[in-house]
Amino acid sequence: MSIEKLVRKELTGEIRRSATRRRVAAAPGTISLAAGDPNFLLPDYIAKTVYDAICEGKTHYCFGGEPTLRDALVKYYSKYGYEAQPGQIAITGGGSQSLFQAYAAILNSGEEGITFDPAYGGGRRPLGFFGVKTVYADMKKTDGQFRPDLEALKEAISPKTKSLYIDNPGNPSGAVFTKEELKGIADLAVDHDFVVVSDETYSEFCWDGTKHEALITYPGMENRTIVCMAFTKMYSWAGMRTGWIVSGPEMAPYVGRAPGSAVSWPIQLGAVKAMTDGYEYVVAIKKEYEERIDYGVKRLNEMPGVSCKKPEGAFYLFPDITGTTLSSNDFVLKLAEEEAVRIVSGAGYGPGAAEGHVRLSMIRPLSTQKMPGWFKNEPDTCFEAAMDRVERFVKKYQK
Ligand SMILES: Cc1ncc(COP(=O)(O)O)c(C=O)c1O
Repeated sequence: MSIEKLVRKELTGEIRRSATRRRVAAAPGTISLAAGDPNFLLPDYIAKTVYDAICEGKTHYCFGGEPTLRDALVKYYSKYGYEAQPGQIAITGGGSQSLFQAYAAILNSGEEGITFDPAYGGGRRPLGFFGVKTVYADMKKTDGQFRPDLEALKEAISPKTKSLYIDNPGNPSGAVFTKEELKGIADLAVDHDFVVVSDETYSEFCWDGTKHEALITYPGMENRTIVCMAFTKMYSWAGMRTGWIVSGPEMAPYVGRAPGSAVSWPIQLGAVKAMTDGYEYVVAIKKEYEERIDYGVKRLNEMPGVSCKKPEGAFYLFPDITGTTLSSNDFVLKLAEEEAVRIVSGAGYGPGAAEGHVRLSMIRPLSTQKMPGWFKNEPDTCFEAAMDRVERFVKKYQK
């Protein structure tokens, strides 16, 4: 019997775990800066809201989603200048589910979906599932920062183009798309009649005065932008699996029709509490992230063969390691094996435009930071210790 004959054709060949993950999973004393799973613990008042909801019997169906959550999300997104109606919000089981549901609403087999390189892989992975070809447009590197390249995007467009995925702010690029870049993207989407799946998961995390702009507000974009959001990063609750989608009034019924995962009712009520009373917490975690980013950028730039631009947004460092003798993949594998630090290769964020870069996620506390976290800020496991190990490693492999 061949299992491949029994399962969905698009899925065969897709089942693989990253080589780095396999090889380093068991290394003792490993400090991970790999996953984008923020370390902060949820404030008690949100956890208590979830607990109280369970005790009050809110453990039944919540058809159509918790209405007060839709209201809170409409209010939240209005800060980006877009006034949605509650019916334009879909509540999902996290950012990945938001993306899958967005694509499920629009894609037909045989079409093409464009993604930038580098970009978050979750923005392209669902395409194959729908029988849609992934087409890449390289970002361009300007002054050490990857930016969307509108010329490369134009070249990637064909009569079959149905979607463009953007992650803004970008993981791993750290780019916050400018008004001009978004205008250029909007003009191309309107001219060539495609949909932009706008992943704004990191919209809260903008540094040094950069500002997140909402593509859905641009002329002609209201019904051709599907905004995908998650609580994962904003409230540091990756394991609670909660996300949401905003789309225009004509698009929203189709997004709603696509089968999605339901979110448990008590967690939706926790999300309402977070949205109404939790912003101080978001401000506090942003402060800690920026301290880590500033520290990490400084340390990396002091290392021979490495240069690192401060990201404009999100919470990843994406240094250039071409001054070492290693490729991105070898850097990641050897760092894991020789110094037990896990990071991610830039080469995995597309066919290779970000070869020569690696991604470090700012999920470890500095030893001086005090917010309650999942990882302890003990001297030998805190962010400083990870950077000491990276420095020792880089010195061995500098050109
Ligand atoms: C840009 C982006 N979108 C979506 C996600 C997925 O979010 P979730 O964990 O809520 O599925 C991630 C996770 O790293 C991400 O970086």
